Amino acid sequence: MSTQNKDSRKTILDIKKMKTLGEKITVLTAYDYEISSILDECNIDMILVGDSLGMVVLGYDTTLPVTMENMLHHTKAVARAAKKALIIADMPFLSYQISPQIALVNAGRFLQEADAQAVKLEGGRQYAETVQKITTAGIPVMAHLGLTPQSIHQMGGYKVQGKKEDSAHKIIEDAKILEEAGAFSLVLECIPEMLAQEISRSISIPTIGIGAGVHCDGQVLVVNDMLGMFEKFTPKHVKKYANLNLEIKTAVKKYIAEVKEGSFPDTEHSFK
Ligand code: KIV
Repeated sequence: MSTQNKDSRKTILDIKKMKTLGEKITVLTAYDYEISSILDECNIDMILVGDSLGMVVLGYDTTLPVTMENMLHHTKAVARAAKKALIIADMPFLSYQISPQIALVNAGRFLQEADAQAVKLEGGRQYAETVQKITTAGIPVMAHLGLTPQSIHQMGGYKVQGKKEDSAHKIIEDAKILEEAGAFSLVLECIPEMLAQEISRSISIPTIGIGAGVHCDGQVLVVNDMLGMFEKFTPKHVKKYANLNLEIKTAVKKYIAEVKEGSFPDTEHSFK
């Protein structure tokens, strides 16, 4: 059962209420107008303009080269399309790590210039003051623990986090600290499912899992991954709900063949 009017924009209060009602929260990433409008028409709860933009749209190897200007540009496109989903903009590398003051200025730009309703940032207790600073200014923050891709070099690769007792304990403590600092929700990326379950039980804000099992309060996937846009590599946690890579190639090959043989455009697609 939905917790709110179908046609109005979801707020962080709706999202928090879904956890108390036991209603699963759905999140997908989007980076452009067309995908955003499709997700919104399907009644997705939240759209994350992830800095995964760097890898799936801009062709970088990591999320590290993504800039504020990249994120603002794509958040604007997503926001123009989505009228019902809560839109969260990912804060790119070095936009929030330097100081809480700089983080607030950058977070504010996403609401003021790009029409997002919330921001996301990666990291634990070391960003508690930053989360507090941003939320105190009235900007909702989604936190992000576990595998945090902006720290890829420090983590030594894209590896499951929190497998050992001490690191699991640290993630649980970080989750509590971030809730206390004012985060309205928490992404848990690539951690064991039992750890995600324990965190989801220990905090009152919703957990949104990606590679964190079924016990999270909601799920997020990178839209290009779940649509099967890439064929080279599929991480274990990604389920492909479509194979657009194949669909697109089939369509493009058919187009090329029809143009070459002169069967496109036919009379139906030509003007008299
Ligand atoms: O950048 C992103 O898309 C993300 C999700 C994977 C949570 O941070």
